[in-house]
Amino acid sequence: MKTSGPILRGTDEVRFGRKYMGMVAMPEYIERGISQLVDKADKKQLRHDYLRIADALSGERPKAESLVKPGTPLTPHSIEYGARESIAFLASSSPATYGVIFNILTELADRLPGFRPDSILDFGCGPATALWAAQEVWPQLSKYRGIDVSEDMLKCAEALLDKIPEENRAKEIDFMRYLAPQTEAKEQSKLVISAFTLSELPSDSVRKTTVENLWSQTSDTLVLIDRGTPDSARMIADARAQLLELGGVHTFAPLPHDQPDPTTNAQAWLHFSQRAQRPTFTMRVKRAKSNIEDLKYSYVVVRRGPRPVAEPRLSVESYTWPRVLLPPLKRKGHVIVDVCTFQGNVERWTFTKSHDKQAYRDARKANWGDLFPARAKVGRGPSGLHAVT
Ligand SMILES: C[S@@+](CC[C@H](N)C(=O)[O-])C[C@H]1O[C@@H](n2cnc3c(N)ncnc32)[C@H](O)[C@@H]1O
Repeated sequence: MKTSGPILRGTDEVRFGRKYMGMVAMPEYIERGISQLVDKADKKQLRHDYLRIADALSGERPKAESLVKPGTPLTPHSIEYGARESIAFLASSSPATYGVIFNILTELADRLPGFRPDSILDFGCGPATALWAAQEVWPQLSKYRGIDVSEDMLKCAEALLDKIPEENRAKEIDFMRYLAPQTEAKEQSKLVISAFTLSELPSDSVRKTTVENLWSQTSDTLVLIDRGTPDSARMIADARAQLLELGGVHTFAPLPHDQPDPTTNAQAWLHFSQRAQRPTFTMRVKRAKSNIEDLKYSYVVVRRGPRPVAEPRLSVESYTWPRVLLPPLKRKGHVIVDVCTFQGNVERWTFTKSHDKQAYRDARKANWGDLFPARAKVGRGPSGLHAVT
């Protein structure tokens, strides 16, 4: 595997490694469909339901009461999506979760130009957010199966299917309430995704069994996404470790290696951020003045098979490029970039204008989350993600 040698900068590599994509807006037809569903809801109730979901997710604030079973407390992270909660989720959260899923699927499509998932399984699909994103990234998708325990979420998903123009819509779409147990190879899906759902499962042991099951359903690529909190980042790191232990699997993103995650003992945690455009209904329910939302997230993408060895192709070379772990610190005359390297280390790299103008220019343009095809020319020191000793 290539780990040293000259790297061309300011060119195709830098563009290829860029994950940053600015603000993401939902497809207009989905936004219109959600707006129609939200319009039917009682506005006061909707606001109340949104606050209850936010409360349940916050973990710190007092526990809320379930709307489905009055009198039953909702423990943090445990939300039952009845009809009202499903509409509240659509109105308040789906534009931002869409933005994150769209970013990650685009990273897959950009770095693997030959990869076209003919079948997608989406666990905890909610209103089928991953379907909307996947259809934008890979038009002419053929098969999608959404799994969600909430019948009301699935009703929303079905209502919104009609809004997708027929020429864009996958030919075979179905929804199920439960994930089938371990599956046979012919039943596997090329791409399995679970977004913002692992942290809603009741315990680590249920998460472990679910990840194992999701992997058994995967013929090629598994994408796990969750919130950008320390807890959710830990759940994603645990899932990655569990999958790597199985063997015959490699990490595609975000870490550029299959070593233990060097950030698990750090003061900060591995997460990224995606900007989404808030539609009017989201601004209303959140009483937000800005139409911009930055959603923090953690994720891992693993693929079956050995880690590709370096060939002079960007899609393979990029497997060895460092990942930018924090927003670069841009100072006068120098830029500080915290990265995770292919060797499995977290490092702080400093690029100075006086030392190498091109590397300095590239570093100034680097974004949080990018793969960054440069090597430190000047100092290496402890990163902003210091290990806790
Ligand atoms: C936060 S929503 C995320 C929806 C969608 N994936 C997105 O990112 O927009 C989590 C979803 O997971 C579903 N869920 C929670 N536990 C589940 C389980 N054990 N099996 C299937 N779905 C589950 C919930 O009903 C909810 O629709």
